[in-house]
Amino acid sequence: MLRQVNKSFVNKQGVSLPVLENIDMTLADGEFLAIVGPSGCGKSTLLRLISGLLPVTSGDVIVDGRHVQEPPPDVGFMFQRDTLLPWASVSKNIELGLELNGTPVEKRPERLDELLTMLGLTKFRDYMPVALSGGMRQRAALGRLLAYAPALYLMDEPFGALDAMTKMAMGRELLRIWGLYNKSVIFVTHDIEEAVGLSDRVIVMAPNPGRIKSIHKIDLPRPRDFREVRMLPEFREICEAIWRDIGLE
Ligand SMILES: Nc1ncnc2c1ncn2[C@@H]1O[C@H](COP(=O)(O)OP(=O)(O)O)[C@@H](O)[C@H]1O
Ligand SMILES: [Mg+2]
Repeated sequence: MLRQVNKSFVNKQGVSLPVLENIDMTLADGEFLAIVGPSGCGKSTLLRLISGLLPVTSGDVIVDGRHVQEPPPDVGFMFQRDTLLPWASVSKNIELGLELNGTPVEKRPERLDELLTMLGLTKFRDYMPVALSGGMRQRAALGRLLAYAPALYLMDEPFGALDAMTKMAMGRELLRIWGLYNKSVIFVTHDIEEAVGLSDRVIVMAPNPGRIKSIHKIDLPRPRDFREVRMLPEFREICEAIWRDIGLE
């Protein structure tokens, strides 16, 4: 789905700085793919190329058999900081996803109730984002993404700003939901254990310029419990191998 992709940014002096170099990447239908790498290695840039928000310098980005030139309709984004509308309640924010994907007005209340229940937000449905904790805001943002129901989820460190316990709960929730819908996910993180716990494959990136260093297949059993899977010796082995690739033994 990415073929020999290169991306450079031109700085104020007019010098072209390579940020991503020769990126080749595939994604299977329903696959959960994680991308890990140090800060600045181009993870967010890569997601923006896939989402069509940013043009490539050279190479091909193909989603669903089509060359990406603008944001494709069937792709949804979730960021580290939630992008909820501050003036709209939790319900309204989630409903926006239903509206955007063309869910008929009469079908929306039922689907909204389902999502609120699934995410444990029913009691908070009328809260404004400012009155929610970070974890609840990310839950609501996930709710909006699920309401939109794209074929491809692009997630850029969505739990990066959360405390360890909330992160654990969100990871569990995401795995459970992914198991229900079986959509493709590209999940960017700098947390190796999070990447291994969630995904089918982990792509390890190296910086300067951003490139793919290695790809690890994660053959841990499914369905997985995001916390319990960490006790498996295979889990530890994969994490260690990735740490070695990153160069921090
Ligand atoms: N719009 C831009 N203009 C110039 N440089 C950029 C732009 N966006 C990102 N970069 C640079 O590209 C590199 C990769 O950034 P980014 O994709 O955000 O990395 P990551 O998400 O892995 O931390 C960084 O060196 C960053 O400064
Ligand atoms: Mg980033």
